Amino acid sequence: MKKITIAIDGFSSTGKSTLAKELAKKLGYAYIDTGAMYRAVTLFAMRKGFINNREFHAEKLIEALTDIDLQFIYNAQKGFAEVYLNQENVEEIIRSLEVSNFVSQIATLTEVRKKLVEQQQSLGREKGVVMDGRDIGTVVFPYAELKIFMTASPEIRAERRFLELKNKGQDIQFDEVFKNVVERDRLDSTREDSPLIKASDAIEVDNSNLTKEEQFDLILQMAQNKIKEA
Ligand code: DC
Repeated sequence: MKKITIAIDGFSSTGKSTLAKELAKKLGYAYIDTGAMYRAVTLFAMRKGFINNREFHAEKLIEALTDIDLQFIYNAQKGFAEVYLNQENVEEIIRSLEVSNFVSQIATLTEVRKKLVEQQQSLGREKGVVMDGRDIGTVVFPYAELKIFMTASPEIRAERRFLELKNKGQDIQFDEVFKNVVERDRLDSTREDSPLIKASDAIEVDNSNLTKEEQFDLILQMAQNKIKEA
C-alpha cells in the first residue's frame, strides 16, 4: 500500500494534535507536531533571556539558531514522538501559558521558519507522515495528498484549553486563556511570512459541534480514500 502525506492545519486549540496523533497511530504513520518545534525555540529564547514581557531581542535569537538542536524521539509508553531541545525532553514544559504567550512572536521570524520548515520537510521526505501546524498544506507540503483545515469557535477552543491546563494543575483564569487564543489567532493569521490560511485544496472541518469520535471517523475515512487512490 502506498503511503501518503497528511497535512493538518488550523487555529490553536482546535484539537489538531490529538486528532493527528490518533490518526498516525491508526495508519502506522509518523506524527510530527510542528507547533512543538516553534514552542521549543521559544523556550530556548526565554531561557537565554532573548524574550520576556519587556524585550524581544530577535537578532540575538537569529544569531543563536545554530545552537538549537531539535529532535523527535518516540515514547513507546505514550505512543508518540516527544520533542527534545538540545537532548532535553521538553514535551511538557513547552505547553505552559508563558511559552504560549510568546510563541506567536517567535513564529513571525523568517529565519526561524526557514530552519524549522527545512527540518519538517526532511522528516516527511519518506511520506507516511501526519504533520500538524499552520502552514503544512501551504508551505511545508503543498503537494500533500490530504489537507485538513480545522476550525472551531474561539469560545469553544478557549474552554477546551482552559480545562486542559486546569487538569494539569495550572492556576489560571478562563479570561486569560481566551485572550491568549484570540491574540494568537490574530498574530498567526496576519503575519507576513506563511500566515495561517486555508490551502485552496484543503478540506475545512469545523468541529465546534462534532464529538472526538465523529471527527476521527470522518477524517480517517478521508485518509483511507486518499490512500486507496494513491
Ligand atoms: O499548535 P501550537 O499551538 O502548539 O503552535 C504554537 C504556535 O506556533 C502557534 O501560535 C503558531 C506557531 N506555529 C506556526 O507558526 N507554524 C506551524 N507550522 C506550527 C505552529
